[in-house]
Amino acid sequence: MLNYSKLLSSIEPSKTVAIASLINQLKAEGKKILSFSAGEPDFNTPDFIKEAGIKAIQDNQTKYTSLQGTAELINTIIKKFKTENNLDFKPDEILVSNGAKQSIYNVAMAICNPGDEVIFQAPYWVSYPEIVKLAQAKPVIIETNANSNFKITAEQLEKAITEKTKAFLFNSPSNPTGAVYSKSEIIELANVLINKDIYIITDEIYEKIIFDGEEHFSIGSIPELKDKTITINGVSKAFSMTGWRIGYAGSNKEIIKLAKIIQGHSTSNATSISQAAANAALNGSGKEVNEMKDEFNKRRDFVINELQSIDGIICPKPKGAFYAFFDVSSYYNKSNNNFRINDSISFCNYLLSDASIALVPGIAFGNDNCIRMSYASSMEDLIEGLKKLKVSLSKLS
Ligand SMILES: Cc1ncc(COP(=O)(O)O)c(C=O)c1O
Repeated sequence: MLNYSKLLSSIEPSKTVAIASLINQLKAEGKKILSFSAGEPDFNTPDFIKEAGIKAIQDNQTKYTSLQGTAELINTIIKKFKTENNLDFKPDEILVSNGAKQSIYNVAMAICNPGDEVIFQAPYWVSYPEIVKLAQAKPVIIETNANSNFKITAEQLEKAITEKTKAFLFNSPSNPTGAVYSKSEIIELANVLINKDIYIITDEIYEKIIFDGEEHFSIGSIPELKDKTITINGVSKAFSMTGWRIGYAGSNKEIIKLAKIIQGHSTSNATSISQAAANAALNGSGKEVNEMKDEFNKRRDFVINELQSIDGIICPKPKGAFYAFFDVSSYYNKSNNNFRINDSISFCNYLLSDASIALVPGIAFGNDNCIRMSYASSMEDLIEGLKKLKVSLSKLS
């Protein structure tokens, strides 16, 4: 009898992609939905980056590039890692991929064997558990909550380690919580890992969207961890380039060599045109990035103040990314007419049907008490959305 992949039977499709499809369907049916579910900046890609892409087409940079990435982009990434992250890499220690998602996938495939364990925290980015499972490893999840600002401690990390631990997957600033680990918190985690044979995969994709004078610190810059750290970044969030699909990894050359094998037999090089655009982005002055960050900062202050003023919502102030992640469990078991809320999915369904507001249930990120609201939306929409949210919540008893 014909059948399908056994491995895939344990992998879930991306819940955030499913929500985006539902919203698009409702919109196509003519419903006006205020969507705060986006995982991407709402700004256009800056003109100078678009122009670099157009020029690449006009210059006929439309052929395969080296699997690893163009020499120009690789050199730019090396320079970026050195000046911004205090990380030293040689050209054979960098791999450019079709988004940071592919970079993480390549690395997981390069280092994991069946039965290995990969530690990360919840709330986590939706793809982490599924990527780990695709690599035939086992996710080991450390729970956090709003009271600890959604951060783990060194003690929790130590406890989660077993002889099967292959890697610690770290994400600061975090999607979905916006939590940012300080340098001293990162050093505490690093001290747990220094004398152990454990890889560190650090996803630094939100590095540039960071507030309140916090500074991003790359765990791989700690000399004792350099050889076992794989640093992942990309242009999607910092430069509003989600559709261009460029991410990159820097690590020791053995891991990059293996990651290249996966990519070489699946997608080959990242798009030549996007690589030229990413090269321009990373060589830019940073002006556009700062403008975008300032706008996110204003919206964050507004959204968090509003959420914190609602009875029953616990919302720590995020220090990075563009999400509010808040605990709504005090609304569970409440109802409005015959609509009863008992988890994060029913909470989001209620708001979608009662107020036409789309949020993402925390269960997608491994925390069923919470909801993610993206503030990558216009201030006008955020004002209207929060007003409607308050009205809908006040009807629950
Ligand atoms: C934490 C995190 N890592 C990685 C990615 C993937 O980014 P890219 O668009 O570069 O694949 C995302 C995108 O939402 C993310 O939130």
